[in-house]
Amino acid sequence: MSKKEITILNRPRRLRKNQTVRSAVAETFLSASNLVQPLFISKKSEPIKSMPGQSRLSLKNFEDKIKSLAESGLFGVALFSHVEDKNKDSHASYALKDKLYFEAIDCVKRLAPQLQVITDVALDPYSSDGHDGLVSSSGEILNDETVEILTEMALMHAKLGADFIAPSDMMDGRILSIRTALEENNFKNVGIISYCAKYASHYYGPFRDALDSAPKSGDKKTYQMDFSNSDEALREAILDVEEGADFIMVKPAGPYQDVIYRIASMGLAPVAAYQVSGEYSALMAAFEKEWLDRDKIIHESLLGLKRSGASLIFTYFAEEYALLKKKEGQF
Ligand code: PBG
Repeated sequence: MSKKEITILNRPRRLRKNQTVRSAVAETFLSASNLVQPLFISKKSEPIKSMPGQSRLSLKNFEDKIKSLAESGLFGVALFSHVEDKNKDSHASYALKDKLYFEAIDCVKRLAPQLQVITDVALDPYSSDGHDGLVSSSGEILNDETVEILTEMALMHAKLGADFIAPSDMMDGRILSIRTALEENNFKNVGIISYCAKYASHYYGPFRDALDSAPKSGDKKTYQMDFSNSDEALREAILDVEEGADFIMVKPAGPYQDVIYRIASMGLAPVAAYQVSGEYSALMAAFEKEWLDRDKIIHESLLGLKRSGASLIFTYFAEEYALLKKKEGQF
């Protein structure tokens, strides 16, 4: 039997033949400086059941956490407030009186000024209705009335030293209102990370446990986006950049990588992606069962987001990833 002669001119495997060659042609790199660690501030410390490894932190424990993150090389921390039921009302009035949250902003700037403080601007932690905006007596989520409060919140955060304001509410026109207020009050260098394409996703469940912030009635579909759409995300991105956003965010991240890619391809502004609580908890469950390799999957899931076009990634694995990078050098 004669051997069949084959001629292959292109052998892509030549560029994969050893680590030296693979490293030379690698296209995507991820470092701690791309990552943001979300943290929950609360009156008392408590583990979050549906987010193993994550806790609500008292101010004391929050301080310790910030000290331990000071040299992590992370981009920064995104702060969320857990508010006691007795402080929630239908006007979300505690949003402008949340002393603990304000102290936390100040604490980061005192203890680790190199970490960027990203503050959350939305009403859901403070609203007895559990919505990101004010709710009218007929159940409508009020847009313009909400934007007024969000703008006041943003100004308070800026006064306390926030580096970036991150409105996570999806009301129309809030970026313009916040940007204008920042300009008028001489906070020209305070950035805005806009949750611009935030979907009405079922992946937020564990976060709502963390903050006790699930909507009391209805859902968030009149303000968060329908997850069958991506053209709509491009329109949101254009508006938010025109209104003065510095980063535009897609959220959740993994199941929405097509959206990250499309928005990033427009080149309007750097894109942020939020690997949300449900994505985190699903991976943690698989790690606990030892069905997936924890270190390798954390790296692969985050690198994929960077490859899709995200410059900044909010992830509950941020601190862990920074430590892994230090320990092992390159993956
Ligand atoms: C609400 C907000 C949510 C998250 C961040 N800000 C949840 C929601 O819209 O109900 C979700 C983050 C996560 O799931 O990790 N302003």
